[in-house]
Amino acid sequence: MCGIVGYIGNKSALDILLDGLTNLEYRGYDSAGIAVNVDNQVELYKAEGKLQNLKDVTALNRAHIEKSTIGIGHIRWATHGAPTKTNAHPHSCNCGRVAIVHNGIIENYKELRAKLEKQGCVFRSQTDTETVAHLIASKFANTKDLAEAVKLASKEIEGAYALCVIHQDVKDTIIATRRNAPLLVGIGEGEYYIASDVPAIIKYTKKAMYLDDNQIAVLTPNSMKLIDIDNNALTPKIEELPWEPVALSKMGYKHFMLKEIHEQPNVVRNVLAGKLRAIDENVILNEVTLDKDRIKNLNRIQIVACGTSLHAAMVGKYIIEQYCGIVVDVEPSSEYIYRKTITDKNTLVIGVSQSGETADTITAIRQAKSKGSHILIITNRPDSTMAREADSLIPVSAGIEVSVAATKSYMAQVISFYLLAIYMAEIKGSVAVQDLERLKKELVLLPQKIEKVLSHKEDVQVCARKFANSKDFIFIARGINFPTALEGALKLKEISYINATGYTAGELKHGPIAMLDESMPVLSILVKGGVYEKILSNSEEAKARNARMIALTNSEDTKLTDLFECIIRIPEIDEMLSPALAIVPLQLLAYYISEFLGKDVDQPRNLAKSVTVE
Ligand code: G6P
Repeated sequence: MCGIVGYIGNKSALDILLDGLTNLEYRGYDSAGIAVNVDNQVELYKAEGKLQNLKDVTALNRAHIEKSTIGIGHIRWATHGAPTKTNAHPHSCNCGRVAIVHNGIIENYKELRAKLEKQGCVFRSQTDTETVAHLIASKFANTKDLAEAVKLASKEIEGAYALCVIHQDVKDTIIATRRNAPLLVGIGEGEYYIASDVPAIIKYTKKAMYLDDNQIAVLTPNSMKLIDIDNNALTPKIEELPWEPVALSKMGYKHFMLKEIHEQPNVVRNVLAGKLRAIDENVILNEVTLDKDRIKNLNRIQIVACGTSLHAAMVGKYIIEQYCGIVVDVEPSSEYIYRKTITDKNTLVIGVSQSGETADTITAIRQAKSKGSHILIITNRPDSTMAREADSLIPVSAGIEVSVAATKSYMAQVISFYLLAIYMAEIKGSVAVQDLERLKKELVLLPQKIEKVLSHKEDVQVCARKFANSKDFIFIARGINFPTALEGALKLKEISYINATGYTAGELKHGPIAMLDESMPVLSILVKGGVYEKILSNSEEAKARNARMIALTNSEDTKLTDLFECIIRIPEIDEMLSPALAIVPLQLLAYYISEFLGKDVDQPRNLAKSVTVE
């Protein structure tokens, strides 16, 4: 949610900043801006809308801006104040000598603003961030020390922030600090890079230091000093970043989303590698540090997550209850944190998150941790805040996901849940060995089946063209594929803005059926197994109300051709594993509809990939 970059060194900052922002666009793209120091003068360049607008603005003055070897940049996802040029970061103070970029929310900004206005500060924007710029400027006026000014200001700020600050009077220094929002410092030769996330800097350096809460980094081209909010000197912990720059290329695909959908067979292979070594061997999950007795004594599991990760968690509930016989509750993190939750040391709390930075999920797991629960994190980012809070960490190894609509990370999360369920079931002895072996065999075969779906996309493309102009869409399923229906609908609404909803097929007649007529597409997820006939009969009910019927199925049943206008076929698969296969055509359907409608597939309006504010 909002992306920050910074650079100080011996190179021109401009392209480094713009390049960094390009790789952080997934965090927001309402407006963007940079601040540089040219000829001892802090200058701000900002533009409303996509980053390209800022690139156009800076291109007009390129030769001049390029002279700066220091700079900070920001790409915004608006929280306080509309996405206008005035509200775009960087923000400054009355005299324009300070410039700051900020990710997070300053909760006491109204009080601070009132106080600063009384002191004569003139506010130009509606943002919470501008208060921090004025506050730092006023502290600097007294101390003439930028790090001290930032430190004093951060003692007055309540809320979450990652901040980068420059000041005209200290032209060879950038200050970076954070509290409950991610920020890292990349280390080069005589230069430092600052970023909210790895993609912004991985092209330049693989050596970096993650800032912890309330740490302040004071960076000059040749030095880095790390202090805490009480001025104690700290030793920086420098790490090797676990990413390759190539992850950020579209590799010939038109969009990142399409590339990431096609990566899924290998994602499954990666997740299984080293953990599922043979059908007749137990799953190895050394990442789970909960000892075997505690696993046997678990009386409850709570899973917290948001968005697509929440749907992966719902598949997880189904599998764990089925194989391990443990009660599992799944709850959106944003709900979990605002009610009395009952957890204890026999409750395992699982946080699921692609980014590992979703604010609500971080709060939820901290809340559970304070009650003594073991915290297991399933995330695509082993370098994230959530990973650091984990007692057990299952990194899902999907690789960097750029498209805002999550696809391959969902797949990796779902497969991780299968491994976790099998692992716990083997410890508990809660299910027959043959049943687990059947599931393991299916897991091993899954990548090839996904490849088959990906190589026969024509059915999906035909269906996408036929239904692209629908205003609404209903997805129905039962049992373990109900989360698939929810996720299919979420993908469609995220990138095509069609009002799509997932229902359990049995609930259709309790209300939603009233909406059915000849303009309403109903997509039935009809996987052979325990609930196949039931969904078929719910589909008949929908057809009888003139709905336009689409089937996603692995059945060759000839009567389907009378009932369904479009049939999207998937290979044979055990019902228990079918969510991992059935989701793929639904991702493709959303993709092709969005592309057909000419929408911005990778950067849908109003969304951000990583939601670091509550
Ligand atoms: C945002 C993204 C979604 C994602 C959700 C949870 O809303 O747009 O794609 O599913 O956050 O993110 P997380 O990183 O915690 O999985």
